[in-house]
Amino acid sequence: MTAPYPLLRLRRTRATAWSRALHREVLVTPADLIWPLFVTEGSGVEQPIASLPGVSRWSVDGIVARAKEAVAAGIPCLALFPNTQPDRRSHDGKEALNPDNLMCRAIRAIKDACGDDIGVLTDVALDPYTSHGQDGLIDEAGYVLNDATVEVLVGQSLNQAAAGADVIAPSDMMDGRIGLIREALEGNGHVNVQIMSYAAKYASAFYGPFRDAVGSSGLLKGDKKTYQMDPGNAEEALREVESDLAEGADSVMVKPGLPYLDIAVRVKETFGVPVFAYQVSGEYAMIEAAVAAGAGDRNGLVLETLLAFKRAGCSGVLTYHALHAARLLGA
Ligand code: PBG
Repeated sequence: MTAPYPLLRLRRTRATAWSRALHREVLVTPADLIWPLFVTEGSGVEQPIASLPGVSRWSVDGIVARAKEAVAAGIPCLALFPNTQPDRRSHDGKEALNPDNLMCRAIRAIKDACGDDIGVLTDVALDPYTSHGQDGLIDEAGYVLNDATVEVLVGQSLNQAAAGADVIAPSDMMDGRIGLIREALEGNGHVNVQIMSYAAKYASAFYGPFRDAVGSSGLLKGDKKTYQMDPGNAEEALREVESDLAEGADSVMVKPGLPYLDIAVRVKETFGVPVFAYQVSGEYAMIEAAVAAGAGDRNGLVLETLLAFKRAGCSGVLTYHALHAARLLGA
């Protein structure tokens, strides 16, 4: 029974800062953040990304410097994405299997410099390596072939694990890939390499700046709707999560983030497993555009969105604001 006014005053516990702090239900800490970074060739290179103001591609030496900043700020994990040179992209994306590709060199360099002070999560999908920008192998009609693609993704995962990746994160949305990747990792001695599955990944309009960052936007013909999920579907997200968990995923991701918070809540409530949200490039760009337009305060917008993910039940968030947020939270 709820007491009636004036005995019940919900404003009472909000009246002072100490009381608000005491009653706050969820918190964000730097340990909740995964920082996505874009790697490019060369040394001493920083390439700002126009559609992601404040985010740059870095050559491997710069990536190591960012990794050290992340460790100092208390960020537990980085997510790496390569901007593959155009002459290394091909119809079949075979550069993904090269043990000396940009991604593997970045993984090794971070692990050499930081060891287990920070985790390295690696994206598994072929879009940074294909000349057509799709996440997998295509037939003459441009359809992305499931089973043939999965075979390559297994090789890509083993390649990343051999270079020292701690968390394999398949973002391709092919059916059955989690089980086959898990089996291959087990069979090759990578028993403690985790899989964070992009389980509920939607065919979203919020990925534009990311495609600029990895250099696939100019190449991509068509869309990714035959493999990424339809934004109208929630029940299907639960089926995707269920199957990835059954195949051996250690944790699952919902992507994009804020527009799909309902999915994060349902996944958490249904399965009770570690759920991560990816606050994607278009979401980052919206906040930065709002700040540039004088429509909001960056720190406030960033911290409130991160809190929303925690409130929804997420264990953590992949966000381009990670370093900024970690420094704010650590201060
Ligand atoms: C590709 C991949 C994408 C993102 C992460 N991995 C883009 C896509 O599916 O086209 C998007 C991340 C972002 O927008 O920040 N496999």
